[in-house]
Amino acid sequence: MEEQAKQLLDWSQWGRQWIDHLRKQKPINRELERHLHKFEESFTKIGRQASRLDKLAAEETLPTLIARAEQVQEQFHHFLRLAQLTEEEQQDEAITIQEDFPETQLVHTATLAEVDPVGAPTPVSYPTAREPVRATRPVAAGRHTLPPLPYAHNALEPYIDEHTMRIHHEKLHQKYVDDLNTAEKKLVEARQSGNYDLVRHWERELAFNGAGHYLHTIFWPSMSPEGGGAPTGELAEAIQRYFGSFGAFQQQFSQAAVKVEGPGWAILVWSPRAHHLEILTAEKHQNLAQWDAIPLLALDVWEHAYFLSYQNQRDKYVENWWNIVHWPYVQERFQQARKLRWEPF
Ligand SMILES: [Fe+2]
Repeated sequence: MEEQAKQLLDWSQWGRQWIDHLRKQKPINRELERHLHKFEESFTKIGRQASRLDKLAAEETLPTLIARAEQVQEQFHHFLRLAQLTEEEQQDEAITIQEDFPETQLVHTATLAEVDPVGAPTPVSYPTAREPVRATRPVAAGRHTLPPLPYAHNALEPYIDEHTMRIHHEKLHQKYVDDLNTAEKKLVEARQSGNYDLVRHWERELAFNGAGHYLHTIFWPSMSPEGGGAPTGELAEAIQRYFGSFGAFQQQFSQAAVKVEGPGWAILVWSPRAHHLEILTAEKHQNLAQWDAIPLLALDVWEHAYFLSYQNQRDKYVENWWNIVHWPYVQERFQQARKLRWEPF
């Protein structure tokens, strides 16, 4: 009971941090501010009620608050996506989606004005739960957006500090998204004009920023304040089968991460061709990639991910990182990825 109330408080803080971020990042018009203000009120109110549950009237119970938080969460995620697009892009997006998915009723087709923080109940997911993606839609060229962190910036302390998380997610990941969008748009222009004089440059930008965007998008939900321990189920069996034991896997993964030359990643992958797991490393992240492989678990060992707390002790950071790995998310990626089967060679 107390744990759930604490999660609600963390969630409330997460929402207010996002609103601060948006206010700093975006030119705020009246319409946007009106929505931000309403969401801010909702986050603050639920956080305040969670902190004084014992003093509330009987009808304001924890399940009621969680249901309310789920509702706000769902609407806020939709709002975040729309808020990151320009008005013109929102209209284009609505048209694209209607053409590609005429039968769907995705909220992405809504305009900002239709997103009401205190509106009608919608299907929801509790902020700390990770559910499979319910609807897919293509991301048009140049329309990538920064995914929200699934927890507050300080939620992974003491293992990863708040300041690092804030810079890492809001500044660095955002830059990958922005530069990936630029590269995609430039390549659209090149396809339209037939002028490929700069194609090598934009292909490099596409690889560097696309890899950065996608790997960070995996990295954030691969961690959780409730993380750590060992995986269970089929992923645990596959690790046992291929690496011999979880300990042996963990040791190789840690060693591989610590010994990446320069900035890069350690990545647990499923090989659809070999039908087994593997640990790969990426120097920077556009080099040494196995393009046939699908990342399942990625550990960011760029200095910006740990330097403020750990300085040059990357091994300490890697060791501590195991305490926040969110295995159910890794398991979900594994379940999806392992459906792929190609002829083995
Ligand atoms: Fe990073």
